Amino acid sequence: MTSASAASLRARKRRHGDEPIVMITAYDEPTARYADAAGVDVVLVGDSLANVVLGHADTLHVSVADMAHHVRAVVAAEPRAHVVADMPWLSYHVGVDAAVENAGVLIRAGAQSVKLEGGAIRRDVVRALIDAEIPVMGHLGLTPQSVLAFGGYKVQGKTRDAAKVLLEDALALQGAGVYAVVIEGVPPLVGAQITAALDIPTIGIGAGADTDGQVLVIHDLLGLTKRPPAKFVRRYADLGSAITDAVSRYARDVRSGNFPGADETYENPVELLD
Ligand code: KIV
Repeated sequence: MTSASAASLRARKRRHGDEPIVMITAYDEPTARYADAAGVDVVLVGDSLANVVLGHADTLHVSVADMAHHVRAVVAAEPRAHVVADMPWLSYHVGVDAAVENAGVLIRAGAQSVKLEGGAIRRDVVRALIDAEIPVMGHLGLTPQSVLAFGGYKVQGKTRDAAKVLLEDALALQGAGVYAVVIEGVPPLVGAQITAALDIPTIGIGAGADTDGQVLVIHDLLGLTKRPPAKFVRRYADLGSAITDAVSRYARDVRSGNFPGADETYENPVELLD
């Protein structure tokens, strides 16, 4: 199977009979390796790194250097899937030239495209990145980098006017040249309407079942998060309990003298036995 490029993803619409796009986050070599082995289309090195790996309450606490560090780790898995990296907060808000430089750091770290949050207001940044030959994925709705502006993590697009603005934002991003748009935390009707209006794929997270693909944070799916997961998460494993159970058995074996056993111990050279 060949790796999905931004150009090939751009054409994936369910209304054309294409399969939904499967996207999952990963932040290091093992998560990327295991996720890729499952055959996902896209691995997102998300700025959710700040929450699920580094323990912060929001995504505002990671830098371009942090993201590049984790992109390098993900790329070390040599995934077949397309690797997209989140541009962290403030890396594209303080001028177009800085945004291009920052995206370049993520591309040189091994990402094949970048994702950024916001709608029409990001048009110039998106165009500049595309002019620099960097494919861009958009992200609309409950954009986590806006947590302070929103006053919390609140479902977006709940009124007619708010839904209309989201649709206009999605069309603005498409017009600026993004190859796909993540739509997060909106009523399913809004997810469906934006999907119907766009020629590029939508990838939903808490946006209902009608988008052209779905994305989840891998720690949510695997049961590794500190806080109870959001309503839109389906938990496919309880690795948190599996880890605690395995480490408890190890601790018990060390304390009882049952570890290491003969099988886990090198043989003494004969010479040392005298
Ligand atoms: O950082 C992230 O994990 C994301 C997804 C929630 C889409 O942006």
